[in-house]
Amino acid sequence: MAKYRADPSARKVDLGVGVYRDLSGNTPILDCVRRAEQAVLATQVTKSYVAAAGRAEFNDAVEALVLRPEHAARRDGRVRTAQTPGGCGALRVGAELIRAAAPAVTVHVSDPTWGNHTPLLGSSGLRLERYPYYDATAHELRFEAMIEHLDRAAVGDVVLIHACCHNPSGADLDPEQWQTLTALLERRRLIPFLDLAYQGFANDLDADAAGVRLVTGRVPEALVAVSYSKNLGLYRERVGALMVISENQDRADAAQSHMLQIARGIYSMPPDHGAAIAAHIFNDATLRKEWITELSAMRTRIADMRALLAQQLRASTGAGTFDFIQTQRGMFSLLGVSPTVVDRLRDKHHIYMTADSRMNLAGIMPHNAAYVAQAIADERNG
Ligand SMILES: Cc1ncc(COP(=O)(O)O)c(C=O)c1O
Repeated sequence: MAKYRADPSARKVDLGVGVYRDLSGNTPILDCVRRAEQAVLATQVTKSYVAAAGRAEFNDAVEALVLRPEHAARRDGRVRTAQTPGGCGALRVGAELIRAAAPAVTVHVSDPTWGNHTPLLGSSGLRLERYPYYDATAHELRFEAMIEHLDRAAVGDVVLIHACCHNPSGADLDPEQWQTLTALLERRRLIPFLDLAYQGFANDLDADAAGVRLVTGRVPEALVAVSYSKNLGLYRERVGALMVISENQDRADAAQSHMLQIARGIYSMPPDHGAAIAAHIFNDATLRKEWITELSAMRTRIADMRALLAQQLRASTGAGTFDFIQTQRGMFSLLGVSPTVVDRLRDKHHIYMTADSRMNLAGIMPHNAAYVAQAIADERNG
């Protein structure tokens, strides 16, 4: 980020940073957020504390959005949700909860995974192991190897699963693979820890939660970390939630009590402002509709840029090697080139991405797609 900022070139392209960008290169405040924020400010009468679990109406709306109101675990009173400081807060509290309940378990994370997963989960003291997930050079999922790895995991181990828009690969499981994975989690009695940071960025709010709903409908225990940084653009407000699903109501109550004790020990209470805005949007029919329209516009823009870059890469390379960029989902894809090529793209062409060749497709614009494609075509080998 610092190198990008310091680069004086007019041609520079930032594919590195992990936030959404509109066609002007801005990370906008959604209109529904502006309107909800005004409503919150107009009606709020105190800044007194809320609670360690945050806002009840926020937590309730999150459960309904992620699981659906009629989900069996909700109906059976087995779900407990706490508002957290972003998805990161949810991952961290979830890790501490696992550590308190079962300190000897291993958490299996995908290879590759988002860079923050390791510090967020590892700093709780839990042992981490990687399961094969995506081959960046071949541009394909390693699903069979993933299943084989997880089939050898110990009973009670935890599996961190990207719910949709895998970060950094953009490669998600298809419905049949979700079924296979769910059957394995059930059979091997593994605990899924689902990370849902991009609901609405792949297909729509419902389709993107299908994996979470499937898994949580079948296994007795699960954790879900939810983030509203991307799909509401509330990044700096730190809005997220940890949902814990337990075997029965008593265990759910115990899990909640531990979860809140952990939250008190780290940050005491989650920040309220962003969650008040989010809850207002979720519970107001007009604003919710507006949100869904704005979310769909963000998703469509990324899908359009994926298609455009893939098309330009076909034109520049004369081959379909990079067609995967068009079919993958979410903000990120791995170009699948070496760190040397990443350096050359930066030093010769002013194109910035992370060392693992992760590109944020929201950094692609109609005016820079051909330039980026040509640079990749020129430098891709080596
Ligand atoms: C995979 C993944 N999980 C969780 C998060 C949580 O983000 P935040 O703490 O900003 O809500 C992110 C954000 O980049 C992410 O990419």
